[in-house]
Amino acid sequence: MNRTEDTTGLFRLGVLVSGSGSNLQSIIDSLHEGGSGIEVALVISDNLQAYGLKRATIAGIPTAVFPLGDFADRAAHDLAMADELDRHGVDLVVLAGYMLLVTPAFLKRFPRRVINLHPSLLPAFPGDTPIEDTMDYGARVTGVTVHFVDEGTDTGPIILQEAVEIKYNDTVDSLRERIHTVEHRLLPRAIELIAGGRLRFDEDNPRRVLA
Ligand code: GAR
Repeated sequence: MNRTEDTTGLFRLGVLVSGSGSNLQSIIDSLHEGGSGIEVALVISDNLQAYGLKRATIAGIPTAVFPLGDFADRAAHDLAMADELDRHGVDLVVLAGYMLLVTPAFLKRFPRRVINLHPSLLPAFPGDTPIEDTMDYGARVTGVTVHFVDEGTDTGPIILQEAVEIKYNDTVDSLRERIHTVEHRLLPRAIELIAGGRLRFDEDNPRRVLA
């Protein structure tokens, strides 16, 4: 897998968040400030109130806000974001709790360089409310998926997955908390695999990502 580097030699991330940004924090703690050779070059949000923006500012990371309402349509919104990510020389775009779908034109700008974190074992329970949907369904096992983003909703090639057991007395909040614990480990690990050039697509079946 190809990667480009800026003059610092660091692998540069653009992280997109919509809310709390606890996964952004795990990237900051374990990679950005962890001597990994990986840095967060830019944090973008669609939501001015996102606490993730504050986390970035505290860590001295540049931020940008792109509210949907400021643009004529989704395509214009995403192209402006892509321009900003390019200006910061981003090697990989990480959707870490970013709650908008990105457009095909955005993906074309970063081929096989956009990954997403999702709180279920895909292809089960895609969409906006996977933890609630999993509980409502009565599933006994769920988990976390990190995957490349394609033009579908939560359908791209899977990089890493880990299961989380659902207990009888779980609530949405208690399950979310255990899922978060796994996410905070799995997402940085997936980023390290990509940054280290340790992933490749199976030529016979590009849905299969080999580590
Ligand atoms: C995470 O659980 C992530 O998997 C989920 O949003 C949460 C963000 O938490 N993403 C999705 O549901 C995407 N469909 P955070 O803001 O604390 O990192």
